[in-house]
Amino acid sequence: MKVLVTGAGGTLGGAVLPRLLADGFAVRAMSRRRRSDPDEEWVAADLATGEGVAESVRGMDAVVHLASAPNRGRHTYQVDVLGTRRLVVAAGQAGVRHLVYISIVGVDRVPFGYYRHKLAAEQVVSAGPVPWTVLRATQFPQFFDGLLGMAGRLGPVIGDPAVLAQPVDPAELAARISHRLTTGPLRGVEEYGGPQVLRFDEAVRAWRSARHSRRPLLPVRIPGRLGRVLRAGALTTRATPTGTRTWADHLADTYGGTGRR
Ligand SMILES: NC(=O)c1ccc[n+]([C@@H]2O[C@H](COP(=O)([O-])OP(=O)(O)OC[C@H]3O[C@@H](n4cnc5c(N)ncnc54)[C@H](OP(=O)(O)O)[C@@H]3O)[C@@H](O)[C@H]2O)c1
Repeated sequence: MKVLVTGAGGTLGGAVLPRLLADGFAVRAMSRRRRSDPDEEWVAADLATGEGVAESVRGMDAVVHLASAPNRGRHTYQVDVLGTRRLVVAAGQAGVRHLVYISIVGVDRVPFGYYRHKLAAEQVVSAGPVPWTVLRATQFPQFFDGLLGMAGRLGPVIGDPAVLAQPVDPAELAARISHRLTTGPLRGVEEYGGPQVLRFDEAVRAWRSARHSRRPLLPVRIPGRLGRVLRAGALTTRATPTGTRTWADHLADTYGGTGRR
């Protein structure tokens, strides 16, 4: 089966490409930059302008759509919503038989601007001509690690201690994507999360200990509906199966026994 992967150069793309290759798929990878690699074919395309999109889907059996431009206002709309529409239309014209769209657990519950765009993109996919699957994942540990690193740079790590999260390993999500390509379009939404639901303060404690950091956690209660839904677990899922790799596994791999990098 020939599969186009959009956003192939991103965090999840870096896990999806080797997984699909190992599982025997022929992979074409999309980026805005021209790239080359002996293992997969790279195509240059830009979802914001449509340039290269029709060519990139030509001859493909399936598309795994990962590309996204988070938290950039109008540009996010251009890439995530209109870009997804361009991709879906082009894939329909090219006779693609399955489009897997990677979304986020909570897009239908959490009032973030980015999530509104992701939800709109899901609707574009489900209303489009290509048989589809929406796979909503929880956050990657790399995302939390980056967030905590940034938050802690100024001194204390500031956050709502009672917010719940469920980090999922991108390599395990990649295996789920590969499985879904094999089983075919769900014409529905599937959720996939990590093995543990953690409170923000627990996650920060483990992160600080892995980095031998003494930065204090400055607890701040997120107000309003946003805080309420985040504390109630809107970023988590009860769906099974889940991944098996924990936040602690990620910290051990990243910081090892030596602590700070
Ligand atoms: N990060 C998380 O914790 C998380 C959790 C659940 C779901 N997700 C979803 O999983 C997907 C992948 O996330 P990620 O963290 O791997 O993202 P990422 O590292 O930010 O990668 C996104 C990719 O999108 C591509 N892109 C951006 N604008 C584009 C455009 N105009 N045209 C074509 N490609 C464009 C970029 O590729 P080039 O720069 O090479 O063009 C980039 O590599 C996203 O849809 C995200 O919403 C993420």
